[in-house]
Amino acid sequence: MSKMILLVALVLTLCALTLRVDCAAAGIDWCYHLPTCNDNNWATIAPKYCNGSRQSPININTTAAKTDENLTEFTFTNFSSTTAQETLENTGKTVKVNLASGVQISGGGLSEAYSSLQFHLHWGNGPSIPGSEHTVDGKRYPMELHIVNIKSSYNGNLTQALADSTGLAALGFFIEEMSGNATGEPASWKTLTSYLANITNKGQTFTLPSGISLDDLLVGVNRAKYYRYLGSLTTPACNEVVVWTVFKETIKVSKDLIDLFSNTVHINDSSSALITNVFRQIQPDQPVTTQAASSASTTCYSMGLMVLSFALWKNL
Ligand SMILES: *[C@@H]1O[C@H](CO)[C@@H](O)[C@H](O)[C@H]1NC(C)=O
Ligand SMILES: *[C@@H]1O[C@H](CO)[C@@H](O)[C@H](O)[C@H]1NC(C)=O
Ligand SMILES: *[C@@H]1O[C@H](CO)[C@@H](O)[C@H](O)[C@H]1NC(C)=O
Ligand SMILES: *[C@@H]1O[C@H](CO)[C@@H](O)[C@H](O)[C@H]1NC(C)=O
Ligand SMILES: *[C@@H]1O[C@H](CO)[C@@H](O)[C@H](O)[C@H]1NC(C)=O
Ligand SMILES: *[C@@H]1O[C@H](CO)[C@@H](O)[C@H](O)[C@H]1NC(C)=O
Ligand SMILES: *[C@@H]1O[C@H](CO)[C@@H](O)[C@H](O)[C@H]1NC(C)=O
Ligand SMILES: *[C@@H]1O[C@H](CO)[C@@H](O)[C@H](O)[C@H]1NC(C)=O
Ligand SMILES: [Zn+2]
Repeated sequence: MSKMILLVALVLTLCALTLRVDCAAAGIDWCYHLPTCNDNNWATIAPKYCNGSRQSPININTTAAKTDENLTEFTFTNFSSTTAQETLENTGKTVKVNLASGVQISGGGLSEAYSSLQFHLHWGNGPSIPGSEHTVDGKRYPMELHIVNIKSSYNGNLTQALADSTGLAALGFFIEEMSGNATGEPASWKTLTSYLANITNKGQTFTLPSGISLDDLLVGVNRAKYYRYLGSLTTPACNEVVVWTVFKETIKVSKDLIDLFSNTVHINDSSSALITNVFRQIQPDQPVTTQAASSASTTCYSMGLMVLSFALWKNL
């Protein structure tokens, strides 16, 4: 009987384990690297929204996340396109890839389709100083990729999106160091990072050749598993207009490629500092939701109950 209880406990534990924007505002002189303009001062520099009550990023407390059966799978349109990534840009604050029109997301509990505008990255200083914006149960990852999307009905009109509390949808993907001693992996990230040498200075853009798709960059991530909350842009003016989706699984990238971000691009010209530690501090908690237990977990749970009832029956 004790073996049975152990088995039941094991099955239930396994089940439990399986359960579970960047818009630079014109005229606001903000930064990450100086005490006068870094995020300690954004609430003063840009008080209208940065001092609001629905600010991002947040720490995601996985225990506190409530389930929501409306958080269905997404449909990713043209994420497989190898020509959708048009230009790579050094903004002085991040590295940004502008996307061609026709890339879209829908489903995922969103009220309508959203058109993907760009993606950009947040990082620390190599994998040893992690720089994701969101944290999960206090854990900060080396990097975070943000895909910024606008409600398709606004036809790219940002003014309208910024006036709508769900005008933008951001997808957040954590980037983690690949285990082992791999270098130059995965190939999609080797290709993307190879162009960082062409945008070492602020304001430089590089026209990307065709070759890598968003699907290629999001390699290995089960995009059906995510957290959802309502938040803001993580840079001034911090507009509170963002439906956030933070995916649970990470993109695994080799250390050498992660290091290239903090070693290659400068905040201004080549005599200026390198772009490092480009993430905003954690903001107060928001209600977070996630998917209901998957059918696999339900099966798992039923199996646990079956084993339990069998064990009880045998002992009657
Ligand atoms: C931010 O808001 C709080 C309360 O809403 C207020 O006490 C504080 O003075 C504001 N800070 C700034 C810099 O505006
Ligand atoms: C996480 O959420 C749980 C359940 O609501 C709570 O007991 C715990 O204190 C929270 N942890 C933190 C760090 O906020
Ligand atoms: C799911 O969506 C329905 C219909 O829009 C809504 O009535 C319900 O409150 C939603 N459930 C949750 C948990 O938000
Ligand atoms: C996806 O891209 C193709 C080729 O660029 C384009 O013809 C198509 O309209 C796009 N799909 C959507 C939904 O925009
Ligand atoms: C965007 O929408 C605003 C508000 O509806 C409108 O005033 C403005 O002309 C639009 N901009 C463009 C470029 O269409
Ligand atoms: C990684 O390289 C180190 C030093 O060369 C070696 O000791 C270690 O076994 C390697 N690890 C793996 C997983 O290959
Ligand atoms: C990109 O940078 C590399 C390395 O500096 C250089 O060899 C290459 O010519 C550049 N390509 C373009 C199109 O500027
Ligand atoms: C940025 O670099 C440009 C070109 O070298 C230089 O003219 C400008 O003064 C620099 N700006 C700052 C704030 O250092
Ligand atoms: Zn961002």
